[in-house]
Amino acid sequence: MKSDMEGKDWVHVLDEADMPEGNLVAVYPLGVNIAMARFMGKFYAFEGKCFHMGCPLASGTLEGSILTCPCHDWRFDIRTGEFIAAAELRLAMYPMRNENGKLLIGMNSKGESDE
Ligand code: FES
Repeated sequence: MKSDMEGKDWVHVLDEADMPEGNLVAVYPLGVNIAMARFMGKFYAFEGKCFHMGCPLASGTLEGSILTCPCHDWRFDIRTGEFIAAAELRLAMYPMRNENGKLLIGMNSKGESDE
């Protein structure tokens, strides 16, 4: 784990080779439940529990950039975390880095996102 100037801990979660296009997985850096997806070659990380009733978003379905929650079909844009039915509501997003094929998520010391 590496820390940067902002005190963010960059935690290696997966290798790029393990994340093909359209993949959606749960990862647990520092014990925090985060869902990760790949869309158009970019990687996105966001809170792993749906803010409706807490269902695991990594068990949902991903079509393009739209993730549908497995429980009650709420839909989110994984690029921004935006709830499709009400754009003012968003999933918390986490910054990601790809360092030579190693995918890292930027965590604050308490495991919170920046949002
Ligand atoms: S828990 Fe996700 S839509 Fe209900």
